Amino acid sequence: MATVLVTSVLAIDAAAALPGHAVVAPARGRLDREALLGGLATADALICLLTDRIDRALLAAAPSLRIVANHAVGVDNVDVTACTERGVLVANTPDVLTDATADLTWALLLAAARRLGEAEGVLRAGRWSGWEPTQFLGVELAGRTLGIVGLGRIGRAVARRARGFGMEVIYAAPRPAADDDGARHVSLDALCRDADVVSLHCPATEATRGMFDAARLATLKPTAILVNTARGALIDEPALAAALAAGKLGAAALDVFASEPSVHPALLAAPRTVLLPHIGSATRTTRAKMGQLCVDAVRDALAGRRPAHLVNPTAWRLA
Ligand code: GLV
Repeated sequence: MATVLVTSVLAIDAAAALPGHAVVAPARGRLDREALLGGLATADALICLLTDRIDRALLAAAPSLRIVANHAVGVDNVDVTACTERGVLVANTPDVLTDATADLTWALLLAAARRLGEAEGVLRAGRWSGWEPTQFLGVELAGRTLGIVGLGRIGRAVARRARGFGMEVIYAAPRPAADDDGARHVSLDALCRDADVVSLHCPATEATRGMFDAARLATLKPTAILVNTARGALIDEPALAAALAAGKLGAAALDVFASEPSVHPALLAAPRTVLLPHIGSATRTTRAKMGQLCVDAVRDALAGRRPAHLVNPTAWRLA
């Protein structure tokens, strides 16, 4: 009987979904790093969250670990190279969260463009004095340009939704996509120059961390809306807050932050921001499917079958 360590309560019952295995999971909440380190001493498989840092120190404490099933599509929290070196498989949860995350991107985009948070705040505070022709004027999206940085699954789903809003879509990516959903490939410089809305959909890697630093932010239109449902590390947050405070950027709508769950105080204080607590994939349907994909990956790996969404196929060849 293999031992499966799960670092958090999931939207599905992992123990019921893995009969024949000993599933160790907290009754509520999440395991802290200490408990995770302790639990890994005997674990054959791990189901973890994007908030768990799976690094070399942790892998060294996991002598029998065969698979890390990351309950996320992004794997920037996992040292995939170290896992591969140790022959530990890494699986993630792509596809099932594409629509939920694309929907949330549009929710943020619309909230920023039409100043929903600000307007609702005034109403709830009892400060709404009645309809006025010049009150809470926002940005109309039809005819404007949406710039997507990273045209993967989620970027394409965001692009598809843009058609319904009558927006032109351009995208920047290392190379033109075979399936671009009508979006036009441009350089990142051109995208920053021409887009009215810039939406980030690339993973956090060595190449993309800090990509939207002060210099890059200065190339955006002063009216541009910056949306991020990918990873906080893509943006230099103090630089973004400074650009907003100085009126050099239209608005920022963020679901992700560099040091979650902390949000940089300068961002909290900055004007024209919509800030959400990383809820891109948070629908009942999607979270259940993400849990199921993790369970499936663990079941397959423990049975000697190749998991469907393997991030490090090399480790499979080594196994
Ligand atoms: C969420 O941010 C994910 O990577 O799944």
